[in-house]
Amino acid sequence: MKEMKRKMGIIIKEVSSKTDLEDVLALREEVFIEEQGIDPALERDSYDQAAVHVLAQEGSKVIACGRVIFNDSYGKIGRVAVAKSWRKQGIGRKICQKIIAIADERNCSRLVLEAQVDAVDFYRKLGFETNGDIFQEAGIEHIKMTATL
Ligand SMILES: CC(C)(COP(=O)(O)OP(=O)(O)OC[C@H]1O[C@@H](n2cnc3c(N)ncnc32)[C@H](O)[C@@H]1OP(=O)(O)O)[C@@H](O)C(=O)NCCC(=O)NCCS
Repeated sequence: MKEMKRKMGIIIKEVSSKTDLEDVLALREEVFIEEQGIDPALERDSYDQAAVHVLAQEGSKVIACGRVIFNDSYGKIGRVAVAKSWRKQGIGRKICQKIIAIADERNCSRLVLEAQVDAVDFYRKLGFETNGDIFQEAGIEHIKMTATL
């Protein structure tokens, strides 16, 4: 019951303000740089300006995020992160489902991503399949995954 109440106040939305984007970047810093030890020089990149960002908010606090970069033939999902204390409650799935819905609205028929190997089953449950071999990126093992919409 307590968990249900906690979840009921969560809003999932597309980022539309500079403040929201700053909150997203702060959460990514917490998860990818502080928790996972990724090089800060690699975490933010030039795609952040062109990407569509999605966030989950509980009250005024940003608790999860993700982004998608569209080109002519596909969308690339990245930087999916849920604050540590909010994991395993379906919020990461909601972030990806929102991204999938945005891709669908844009008539994008293919989504790709580079999954951390530990997160492969999370993305499998969302309809993604692995392609190719495992590779290292930012010191972490990754594998490419694709979903057809
Ligand atoms: C990976 C991550 C985004 C998952 O978010 P989450 O909110 O905990 O995931 P959800 O609760 O929405 O999980 C949805 C389903 O995937 C499963 N799942 C979640 N994380 C998983 C993992 N690491 N491995 C296997 N299954 C996982 C859940 O058990 C759930 O399954 P169910 O529907 O059968 O109950 C989150 O753990 C995270 O932010 N990790 C750190 C950053 C990171 O590694 N990002 C991914 C970069 S590629």
